[in-house]
Amino acid sequence: MADRYLSFTGTTPGRFLTRRLGLPQPTALHRWSAEHPSFTGELLHLSAGKSPLDGPDGLAAVLGRTGLAVRARSERPVAVVLDATGVTDIDTLAEVHAALHAVVRSVARSGRVIVLGAPLDTADHHQAAVQQALEGFVRSLGKEIGRGITVTLLRLTDANAAESTLRFLLSPKSAYVSGQVIGIGGGAEVTAPADWALPLAGRTALVTGAARGIGEAVAATLARDGARVVCLDVPGAAVELDSVAGRLGGTALPLDITAPDAGARILAALPSEGLDVLVHNAGITRDRRLVNMAAERWSSVLDVNLASVLRTTDALLSAGGLATGGRIVATASIAGLAGNAGQTNYAASKAGVAGLVRALAPNAAAEHGVTVNAVAPGFIETKMTTAVPLFIREAGRRMNSLGQGGLPVDVAETTAWLAHPASGGVNGQVVRVCGQSLLGA
Ligand SMILES: NC(=O)c1ccc[n+]([C@@H]2O[C@H](COP(=O)([O-])OP(=O)(O)OC[C@H]3O[C@@H](n4cnc5c(N)ncnc54)[C@H](O)[C@@H]3O)[C@@H](O)[C@H]2O)c1
Repeated sequence: MADRYLSFTGTTPGRFLTRRLGLPQPTALHRWSAEHPSFTGELLHLSAGKSPLDGPDGLAAVLGRTGLAVRARSERPVAVVLDATGVTDIDTLAEVHAALHAVVRSVARSGRVIVLGAPLDTADHHQAAVQQALEGFVRSLGKEIGRGITVTLLRLTDANAAESTLRFLLSPKSAYVSGQVIGIGGGAEVTAPADWALPLAGRTALVTGAARGIGEAVAATLARDGARVVCLDVPGAAVELDSVAGRLGGTALPLDITAPDAGARILAALPSEGLDVLVHNAGITRDRRLVNMAAERWSSVLDVNLASVLRTTDALLSAGGLATGGRIVATASIAGLAGNAGQTNYAASKAGVAGLVRALAPNAAAEHGVTVNAVAPGFIETKMTTAVPLFIREAGRRMNSLGQGGLPVDVAETTAWLAHPASGGVNGQVVRVCGQSLLGA
């Protein structure tokens, strides 16, 4: 269902009225389109402390490849990158305030503020304190900055290993990702693609639950990035599935993912080289408060959302069904991080997905060269959320820093970044695509 409030606040009378009444004023976000695939304008590159990322082949070179004009001063930057990897004490932390205080007002609408931090695994408790302080800083700035601007903290030691992530965050593809802390390092091999516009060329991706909603958008986005897509959904959705697969030049695999032999049937449907990208997106809700929840509601949700993810992941990894350099992306939910009344089953299943990702990631990288990450969507405009009662739906839409619901494509773009061959350094992360929802913040 369309967000009529967002359209209304985009009009002159809408802006006037909502300002007078003190109501939220969401900004229409700039998302990727074939006509406007990237931002145009200036990227303001600032630093606090003495950065270890400096050097001829360091951060400046990577930022220079994003297509934005990198500047040390800018009147109206579309993005600001503050390198705070050199923040080690209270004095250098103050440089973060000094650098951003002066420019935060000038960032363009729907722009980006990205703070770069160091990993937290230091024995120096002063450094650990001020590096952790960056998280509170970034999350607070995300909540107050407004105008559709997103704020993210990226922890890294090597700018080149972070190139796909910086390109994603510095593009319209990350419009609904805000208030997040993303860590780079300790993953699998990072492979720069021959063509950054077609990073998945020659690769095969399987998406579960691809007949509609987020899964359909994920399949379409991976196909846009060059992948051959295998679209899986229940046999009951075969007509829609055929139409999605046909439109994307992919193949349809009608299969209930909870079938005990689902792993074997997926393997049988794959090309001999196996799979490069596996997206566990299929999911269901069967909401009831625990007191009214029959065992079937519990088991059906756990079976689709978690048990089948565990089974098919194990089946594919143990049979060598995922090629070296492969990517597994599972779909969690902010309900799994924050909890939600009426969703003990769903939240348990989605928290379980996050647990699976964190535990499997190091082993999968070491043994198979495969990364394992999750996306955790917030309120996304799909059939699943159209079924939510009106007032709860409105609350879900507005209770985030961007004041609006996300679109399936926002989850799809985040999935595509995690599936990228150059995202080998991103591993074991649970990345929320929620406009910095107040839930579970
Ligand atoms: N929409 C949101 O706001 C939101 C928020 C957080 C998380 N999610 C998660 O994102 C994923 C996609 O959600 P959506 O909103 O697009 O839902 P949706 O209901 O529109 O689509 C889900 C798809 O999964 C398929 N599916 C269900 N059970 C299956 C099974 N046993 N085997 C194969 N396919 C099966 C369905 O047929 C459907 O096509 C789900 O995992 C969901 O939990 C959605």
